[in-house]
Amino acid sequence: MRRLVSETSLSVESFVYPLFICPGTGIKTPIASMEGCFHYSPDMLGAEIDQLAEVGVNSVLLFGAVDKKDDTASYAYDPKGAVQQAIGQIKKINNSMLVITDVCLCAYTSHGHCGLLKDGRVDNDSSLPVIAKAAVSYAAAGADIVAPSDMMDGRVGAIRSMLDENAFQDTAIMAYSAKYASAFYGPFRGAANSAPAAGDRKSYQMDPSAARQAMCEIRLDIAEGADMVMIKPAMAYLDIIAAARGQFEIPIAAYNVSGEYMMIHAGAKAGVLDLNCAMMESLMAIRRAGADIIITYFAKTAAKLLKGGRH
Ligand code: PBG
Repeated sequence: MRRLVSETSLSVESFVYPLFICPGTGIKTPIASMEGCFHYSPDMLGAEIDQLAEVGVNSVLLFGAVDKKDDTASYAYDPKGAVQQAIGQIKKINNSMLVITDVCLCAYTSHGHCGLLKDGRVDNDSSLPVIAKAAVSYAAAGADIVAPSDMMDGRVGAIRSMLDENAFQDTAIMAYSAKYASAFYGPFRGAANSAPAAGDRKSYQMDPSAARQAMCEIRLDIAEGADMVMIKPAMAYLDIIAAARGQFEIPIAAYNVSGEYMMIHAGAKAGVLDLNCAMMESLMAIRRAGADIIITYFAKTAAKLLKGGRH
C-alpha cells in the first residue's frame, strides 16, 4: 500500500556517475579521499563502462585529474588530453553511453583557480575564451553535453557561440548555475588535485546564505543558452532545488557532491549509519525537492539496489 500511494520514485535513468580521468596508460588507482572511486587512464575504462551499463546507468560525467598544469590551463583544451581521449574510448566501448564533461580550469591551472589570474586576482573575462576552447575540444572529441563549473560570468554564452561557430550546435550545455562555495567539495579536491594554492573560491562561487541570487544565476544561464541547469551541492540546498523547480521549466540537475558522499560512508564506517538506507533516503530527498537529474558517486550502488527491487 505504501508503494501504491508513494509520491516520488527514484529512477536509474536520472543518475549520472562521475569518473576521474588521468593521463597515461594502464592506470586504475584508488582515490584516497573518496571511497570506491578510482583514477582511470583512458584505456582502462572498459570494465567500468560495462558495469555501469549492466546496472542501467547510462550517463557519465568526466573530470580531468592531471599534473600537467600551467598559468594558462593549456592542457584543458589539448585535443590529445586525457579527458578528450577518454571520450573517444567510452564511445568506442558503448556508443549509447551519454558523455558529459566538466568544463573548468581548476584542474589545469598551476594556481588551482577556476579562471585565469591577473595581478593575483581571478580575471573573469580573459578566462572565457579558454573555458570555451576547452568545451569545443570536448565536443570535437565526441562529448554529448558540456558542463561548465567554473562560475565565471558569461561563460555559457561564450561556450554556446564558440560551439556554434565550430559546427557543434548539437552539443548541449548543462550549466553549473547555482554552485555554492562549499566545504562539501573537500574530498573531490583531493581527487582532482585542484585545491586553490592561495585564497578561496568565494569571489566566483555563491555564498551559502544566498537563495534569490541562485534564481538570478539560473535565469542568466538560461538566457545565455543553457539547456539544463544545476544546483550544487544537493543535500544542504534542497530549498534551492525546490525553488528552481517552481520557477523554471528546463531540466534541473542536482550534484550530490563528494563531501555528502563521504559523510555517509564515514557514518557507516563508524557504525552509526546504515549506508544503503542513508544513501537511498538522501537520493529520494533530492528527487522529491525537484531534481530531474542526480549526479552522484552512489549511482552504481543505488542502481543495483533499485534493480534488485529493494528500497
Ligand atoms: C571544479 C569542480 C569542483 C567540483 C566539481 N567541479 C570542485 C570545486 O569547485 O572546488 C566538486 C565536486 C564534488 O565535490 O563532488 N570547479
